[in-house]
Amino acid sequence: AKTHHRNFVVQQTPENRLCRIHNILTVNGQYPGPTLQVRNGDALVVKVLNSGRYNVTIHWHGIRQMRTPWADGPEYVTQCPIQPGASYTYRFPIENQEGTFWWHAHSRFLRATIHGALIVLPKLGSPYPFPKPKHEIPVILGEWWNRDVISVQRLAIFTGGAPNVSDAYTINGQPGDLYRCSSTGTTRFPVQSGDTILLRVINAALNQQLFFKVANHRLTVVEADAAYTKPFTTSTIMLGPGQTTNVLLTADQTPGRYYIAARAYASAQNAPFDNTTTTAILEYQSARRGVPSRPILPQLPAFNDTATVTAFSAQLKSLGKVEVPTKIDENLFFTIGLGFVNCAPGPRCQGPNNTRFAASMNNVSFVLPRRASLLQAYYQNIPGIFTTDFPPVPPIKFNYTGTVSRALWQPRFGTKLYKLKFGSTVQIVLQDTGIFSTEDHPIHLHGYHFFVVGQGFGNFNRRRDTPSFNLIDPPVRNTIDVPVGGWAVIRFVADNPGVWLFHCHIDTHLAWGLGMSFLVENGIGKSQSVSPPPADLPPC
Ligand code: C2O
Repeated sequence: AKTHHRNFVVQQTPENRLCRIHNILTVNGQYPGPTLQVRNGDALVVKVLNSGRYNVTIHWHGIRQMRTPWADGPEYVTQCPIQPGASYTYRFPIENQEGTFWWHAHSRFLRATIHGALIVLPKLGSPYPFPKPKHEIPVILGEWWNRDVISVQRLAIFTGGAPNVSDAYTINGQPGDLYRCSSTGTTRFPVQSGDTILLRVINAALNQQLFFKVANHRLTVVEADAAYTKPFTTSTIMLGPGQTTNVLLTADQTPGRYYIAARAYASAQNAPFDNTTTTAILEYQSARRGVPSRPILPQLPAFNDTATVTAFSAQLKSLGKVEVPTKIDENLFFTIGLGFVNCAPGPRCQGPNNTRFAASMNNVSFVLPRRASLLQAYYQNIPGIFTTDFPPVPPIKFNYTGTVSRALWQPRFGTKLYKLKFGSTVQIVLQDTGIFSTEDHPIHLHGYHFFVVGQGFGNFNRRRDTPSFNLIDPPVRNTIDVPVGGWAVIRFVADNPGVWLFHCHIDTHLAWGLGMSFLVENGIGKSQSVSPPPADLPPC
């Protein structure tokens, strides 16, 4: 096992996109940021120096951080942010995890441009559970704004209105040649005829689920969210923000140029979205030189093609033997809702009809503390930062996916945690609601991965739906895209003490309060307890 030392400098960087130069925040001047590649069992030590002008933190998405919650990164949850001019070193081992992870800023909307791949290879000498690919390529899908992302966020957070949608999607930082002024930068993936390559696809977009497809080529899915899956072949995959999917692609077509493309899957009714298409080019090296032919464009599903999404996610199954908890200690039921709160007319009240947007789980709209992080408050017994009365079930039962009375649209604000005993087995029913609009939500749990034992449409019905749970080979994920107007059920064992954020990975929804946190108590002894905080933990 090796310890890898890296330096990340968060800095302003000029980038030319969509016909003009923008100053964006990057890590080390790179967009997307540097790829970290380590092996299962290694440790990472990343010193982050903030040379930008906003507070920032970095999160290692999907890494469990067993007993090292201080390195997890979400601002005001496990640490106070790194202020301009300051630095913080994230130190953590990677234990019994491998696959495609990623890292990203976890401060306001800065994730838009501060992100990169984190690849964990198997231990030296242990093979993949599939034939070794010739090459491996991270494929990072993103969103690009012509405006400064903090001003995009201010629109949603300061004014209480809906934010602008993105101006382009990107593949490895480039919109591709279907956008203006973008053809020279278009990302190219060279292949030799007959080669099989592994694409490590990451949806780093702030706010948009994306379809992904390669013209004329089939994709064999072998991993999702850094957990191996039973291989299956498909033409299209869909990823919610936060999710990763590894696919094998064999260059078995007529030598030539083929577009790799991504476009929105947008399930909310009447909500505006960026309806453009980003492309990269798969280039056969054996294709004739000379004037390159126009690449073939794949036919992507329609923006509202939920049937394709459902068929895709139904095929995801764990590869190996898994142990799904069957005796459940904590039976939780969380509603997911977008709503409004009333406000006094003015600049901070730009939502529809004198309201501000708000979002909630079980009617609680999550508010981050400011004086200390939740983890510090717990570890150092600082009173008045949070309460532990997050409701385990919705305070009111209603027809969740039907027409919801407006009286139920207003959430309550709070910094409420839910306490879990070390080692308890947890089931959470995640129920989308028709508050404002049904919509699929990518819900991410920090510090854990979980089994997705079931999902479906309409209102979850315990008696009807429990018998159909998959307890044999359910997929293991860290982010579940809860179906639009439907539900998903996850299970995990609370074996990692600390404070762990559980939230929608659509950043607008998170900023509106679509999240909560679990407080997992220490078990017995050092091996089941939160390690002490590092000396350089940033102050608030
Ligand atoms: Cu990918 Cu809360 O994070």
